[in-house]
Formats: sequence, structure tokens, C-alpha cells
Amino acid sequence: MEVWRLLPVLSRKLSLHGSSCGGDLVTRSRIRSCGVTVIQGNISRSYFSTGPPVTESTALVYRSHGVPSQVVQLETHKLPALEAKSALVKMLAAPINPSDINMIQGTYAILPDLPAVGGNEGVGQVLEVGSQVQTVKVGDWVIPRDAGLGTWRTAAVFSEDDLVTVPSDISVLSAASLGVNPCTAFRMLSDFESLMPGDTVIQNAANSGVGQAVIQIAAAKGIHTISVVRDRPDLQQLTDRLKAIGATYVIKEETLRKPEMKDIFKVCPRPKLALNGVGGKSATELLRHLQTGGTMLTYGGMAKQPVTVPVGALIFKDVKVRGFWVTQWKRDHKHDEALRVMLEELCTLIRAGKLSAPPCTEVGMKDFHKALDNAMKPYISSKQILVM
Ligand SMILES: NC(=O)c1ccc[n+]([C@@H]2O[C@H](COP(=O)([O-])OP(=O)(O)OC[C@H]3O[C@@H](n4cnc5c(N)ncnc54)[C@H](OP(=O)(O)O)[C@@H]3O)[C@@H](O)[C@H]2O)c1
Repeated sequence: MEVWRLLPVLSRKLSLHGSSCGGDLVTRSRIRSCGVTVIQGNISRSYFSTGPPVTESTALVYRSHGVPSQVVQLETHKLPALEAKSALVKMLAAPINPSDINMIQGTYAILPDLPAVGGNEGVGQVLEVGSQVQTVKVGDWVIPRDAGLGTWRTAAVFSEDDLVTVPSDISVLSAASLGVNPCTAFRMLSDFESLMPGDTVIQNAANSGVGQAVIQIAAAKGIHTISVVRDRPDLQQLTDRLKAIGATYVIKEETLRKPEMKDIFKVCPRPKLALNGVGGKSATELLRHLQTGGTMLTYGGMAKQPVTVPVGALIFKDVKVRGFWVTQWKRDHKHDEALRVMLEELCTLIRAGKLSAPPCTEVGMKDFHKALDNAMKPYISSKQILVM
């Protein structure tokens, strides 16, 4: 990058959320950012640094498929050289999601070549950009554009095409978990049924990351949610928490088969949309409560059981049975503005306090064994987030 382009990049008052150096201004002859000095001269790259140069990365790598805590290991490698259209990114935080686990187990729809770095989402900060990079700037926060980037590492050199910028005025945890679950919830509530304030959505796995985003986005739009969760000793606590973020009703899976459902439908209309992240019996029970012509959208299969559709639901209620995969949606919209528009809308909700990250357990990289095991345990109700 030429000096004349470097200066505007760094002379905007660097908003260094989460760093200790906030807002150094840049002079024409030298750029001082948190103690690092870049002397004016034949500069071909722009820099931002909060410490010594980042030359290596510690990553959670798997070389074969299997039980995550057995096949994943911590490895440190030298970073490759920065190329013209690539950016050096320091990762800040990255969640452990079910799709990450499935990828490591070798059971996900797309599998990276091995060896692979784990992690499909997360947020990082751009430290350095190559001479032809146009879409990200030094200091920007970035998230992956697509699945399979390998976010469980302290730093990486990524192609700029693989990155999307996000605002740095939201929390690290919100940014780290923005690109998959809230996007999935947003699209499912927007693209399949025309939902108006006062309409109802029913969903299982309502305490999942997706489920909590559904509750909050629906509440912001005035849409009722019937949130189905598995029974557990601390059910009341979970119910209170989901209601506090906007759930209209929180019920146990067993309640779906009970007459008290009729009481709910005296107050709010039957759902136009059912969101299924579980499969098996749970999905079938959701279907029974849909209104005529409604849609059941399957986005996850946590129970690892097929979806059975009662014949009557098809014949007499003409329900639509659909699926959704946010990865495919992002690929389909790679060349338009839809992803950016959605991320802006989601960040507006976050800033307004209407969309928060799910409860998280922050874990250092070296504690990855415990984090991977916890991510696979039932009833944990807390997203494991690796902090770098
Ligand atoms: N299609 C897409 O584009 C897309 C996007 C994002 C996520 N997903 C999928 O959505 C699902 C949820 O992802 P997430 O990140 O939101 O999950 P998460 O936050 O890790 O939560 C997992 C959820 O699954 C529930 N669960 C686990 N095992 C279950 C079982 N056997 N029966 C019923 N519920 C079970 C958990 O309930 P308990 O608390 O009761 O254990 C919890 O609600 C995953 O399958 C994921 O792959 C799909």
C-alpha cells in the first residue's frame, strides 16, 4: 500500500475497541501506534500493532476426524508471508459451535482438507494489509465470509475475499458470534413466511444460540415466540432467562402434547412458522401446532433423528416442509449487499440492547480439551468461546 493510502487509513482516529491504546493520531513522517513506529519510506503495507510483530500463530489443529478432544491439538506455526490481497488478522475470540464439532467428527456437509484448523466463526482485528487490499483496513474487526476458515488460532493471513468487516462498537462476544446464529435466525424469520407483528413462531432448541437470537429478533419485530426446551432441573431459571430476552412462552417438549397448548392459542394465533433445530419427535410435535399452510423450517438436527411428517399435516393442513443453511445463503449472496445490510440491522439491534450474545464461557486456547468436551454436553446452556 502506498504511503498516501496508508496515511488516511491510519489517520482516522483508530477506534481500537478492546485494545489498550485507543486513538493515536498519525503524523506524516512517522506513524506511532501503541509504541510501534513505522518510518516513512518505501512502505508497501500498512500496519497496526499493539505489541511485537506477529510472526507465528498458535492454532487448534486436527489431522484426522474423530472425538474432538482426542484429535484436536495445539500447534504453533510460522505465519506465511503477507500477499498483495491478503490481511494479517489477530483473532480475538471464536465460539465452539455444533457445526465445528461435526466437522471435526467428519459428519458435517462440508469438510476442509486435513490437517485443518478448527472453527467456522469468530472475530479478529486486522493488523496488516497487503498492497492491493481494498475491502478491509488496518484496525478493522473482521469475521469470516464463509464456513471453514479455521478461526481457532491466535493469528492468520487470510485472503481479503474471505473476510467481512463488522463494527467494533459492539462487544467482542457479540461480534464473535454474529456471523452464524443471529444471521440464521434473521433469515429464517425473514425469508420463508411473511410475519407481521402479532404472528407466532414456534421453535425447539430455544435455548440454543440460534434459538436465543430467534427470540430476540422476533421480539423486536413484535412476533410471539413459543420456545420449546428440554426439561432440566433448572428449568425455571432457564424459563426466566428466555422470557427476560423476549420469549412469549417457554414450554417443555412434553407440553407440546398437552391440552395446555390450547390455552396458549386462545391468546396468540397458531404459528405460521416452526423452526426445527432438533429433528425426531420434537419436530413432529412442532408440526402439529402449525396453522394451515404454515412452514416448518429445519436448520439443525441435534437429536440426530429424521423428521417424520404426519400425513394429516400434509393433506389437511398443507404445511410446507423446508430447510435452511446459512452457509448456502451467504454463498448465494456473495456478490450483493444482502449480507452487509443484514449485519448492519443485527448490529443496530445489538446497540439498542435488543440482541445480545448467548451466555458464554470464555476459555483460553490452552484449555481447549475442557471446552470441546463441554461444548458437547447436554443442558450446559453456555456457549464455549475461545479467547485468544
Ligand atoms: N442451518 C444453518 O444454517 C445453521 C446455522 C447455525 C446453527 N445451525 C445448527 O443449529 C443447531 C443449534 O446450533 P447452536 O450453535 O445454536 O447450538 P448451541 O448454542 O450449541 O445449543 C445446542 C442446542 O441443542 C440442544 N440439544 C442438544 N442435543 C439435543 C438433543 N439430543 N435433543 C434436543 N435438543 C438438543 C441443546 O439443548 P439442551 O440445553 O437441552 O442440551 C441446545 O439448545 C445445531 O444443529 C447447528 O448445527 C444450523
